[in-house]
Amino acid sequence: MAWNSWNKFGCNINEQLIRETADAMVGSGLRDAGYRYLNLDDCWAESDRDAAGRLVPSAKHFPSGIKALADYVHGKGLKLGIYTSAGTRTCADTMPGALDHEKDDAQSFADWGVDYLKYDNCNNQGRPAIERYRAMGDALKATGRPIVYALCEWGENKPWEWGRDVGAQLWRTTGDISDNWSSMTGILDRQAGLEAYSGPSAWNDPDMLEVGNGGMTTDEYRAHFALWALLNAPLIAGNDLRSMDETTKKILLNADLIAVDQDWGGKQGHKVRDDGDAEVWAKPMSDGSAAVVLFNRGGTATTITSGAAEAGLGHAVDYRLRDLWSGAESETTGTIRAAVPPHGAAVYRVWPQRVPQAAPHGTLSLQ
Ligand code: GLA
Repeated sequence: MAWNSWNKFGCNINEQLIRETADAMVGSGLRDAGYRYLNLDDCWAESDRDAAGRLVPSAKHFPSGIKALADYVHGKGLKLGIYTSAGTRTCADTMPGALDHEKDDAQSFADWGVDYLKYDNCNNQGRPAIERYRAMGDALKATGRPIVYALCEWGENKPWEWGRDVGAQLWRTTGDISDNWSSMTGILDRQAGLEAYSGPSAWNDPDMLEVGNGGMTTDEYRAHFALWALLNAPLIAGNDLRSMDETTKKILLNADLIAVDQDWGGKQGHKVRDDGDAEVWAKPMSDGSAAVVLFNRGGTATTITSGAAEAGLGHAVDYRLRDLWSGAESETTGTIRAAVPPHGAAVYRVWPQRVPQAAPHGTLSLQ
């Protein structure tokens, strides 16, 4: 779980913004809810390397350097992430990429106290992806510093099949999200079938969150967050944390949904049924419960109904149901039903209770 500068700020980043964001991660409760990584994206470095071939932090925007920033971020109980590309230049083309400079750049990151690398795919000179991503994975490992390795290869060469082998813990599965409904749902649709490849320390990344950036309605942002949690997505907030409204906070800080996303069993949820615009998504939880999202893609309110069996739960006499938006609890004999607003998602966690005991086979009752 993290925050990343790109979705809201693009190239307009500087050390003051990052320090204020660190303060806001603590002050808003995001850090304590689990958002621990504060990730710089593109545009943090000078356009050229120094005479020794090393990356140089932008003198204008990061005059104190990355090491000082990492110290500040660490002092807040957070970790610092950084960005570059497995190419000759980064995607915004404002700074050098790390292709053929993997060892030097990984060493700079380690020396500065960086804890996470997002490694993009622009300007890759047509060279094979696996080789390029393995070179950086090996270089990071060789530094001896634990650095989370996030591939941003956009799903072009099925990184879910080889991401683990090159030392990555997460990999983007698609191109970039933008802050609108059709982008978000388009990315969602491209996650089908990828659940088989995800598990602890090996996560499919459907891209960062747009929650709070203003291009979607509250119901749409709730659906975005609930579905990302169901997908075990890395929850990477991308809004301005210094001016978050209460509605945005309530979504990003929803502890029940974060618990779905972070469940230690690491089984990724998936779509179990669709009836036109009414969809049912479910995720098995490691305590034997299930998380269920009733997702309304349509433009009019509708009632969506599912059941315990469809959610992957075994037979029980009854089930306890928690609405993960309101916190309200209820009991059911198996039906899960909600009136779902347009472009909205109802979310439940469902626990089987009073599992029927099978009669012991072949027992005799002795008088
Ligand atoms: C690519 C990535 C984005 C972002 C930009 C930065 O488009 O996919 O997530 O990092 O580059 O230039």
